[in-house]
Amino acid sequence: MRQHHIRNREQLIEEFGSYIVDDPRAAKGRWAELFGCDKPIKLEIGSGKGAFITGMCLRDQDISFIACEGAYNVYPRIPQKAASLNVQNLLVLPQYITDPREFFGDGEISGIYLNFSDPWGKKRYNNRRLTYRDKLEGYRHICRPGSALEFKTDNDELFEFTLNELAYLGLTPDIVEYDLHSSPLNEFNIPTEYEEKFTEEGLAIKYLRLLFT
Ligand SMILES: C[S@@+](CC[C@H](N)C(=O)[O-])C[C@H]1O[C@@H](n2cnc3c(N)ncnc32)[C@H](O)[C@@H]1O
Repeated sequence: MRQHHIRNREQLIEEFGSYIVDDPRAAKGRWAELFGCDKPIKLEIGSGKGAFITGMCLRDQDISFIACEGAYNVYPRIPQKAASLNVQNLLVLPQYITDPREFFGDGEISGIYLNFSDPWGKKRYNNRRLTYRDKLEGYRHICRPGSALEFKTDNDELFEFTLNELAYLGLTPDIVEYDLHSSPLNEFNIPTEYEEKFTEEGLAIKYLRLLFT
């Protein structure tokens, strides 16, 4: 996501800081405590300005959600949006995740969303992709059995790459959809900012779901 300068960044952080986890490494294994409840915890990595995750928070109040966004000029928009919608079940992890196990204990998470993850065009950057095999291994550790990993993208190459990485690890998605918006699944779909933009441009949105056993 392009990092436009936001002039009131500090002000947003101060005003909506109660949503932001300042030391997320120290939260490892303690997320339920931070939320103050034992609801299942689901994580979005690369939340952008938070349209998707705040929509999920409002729709499913029996879940605690974590929005992870590393871009320092983007993540303050998430708590701003959450506060404007009176969202109560969200925390923001304001850092780039390289190894999810740095931030989450084994089985601490009950679902992961990856939406329009950066494609990192050049092949030598494949290991930065959020669906690279090492990352997928990390997700498998932090997710409790039965959790779903859900992935949406407009990018054909990244989608095929992801299917191949899953296959490399012997993992088979239970849903693979090449045109999400024309499928019955769309009824339950909450669009992201990028999704709105790409859909307007006429691009088909690809979707897959993997269930961790
Ligand atoms: C292309 S944007 C998509 C934003 C949003 N999900 C959407 O669909 O509108 C990707 C976002 O992921 C963030 N991001 C990329 N890698 C990340 C990582 N390893 N940890 C956290 N955020 C990351 C970027 O800063 C950027 O805001």
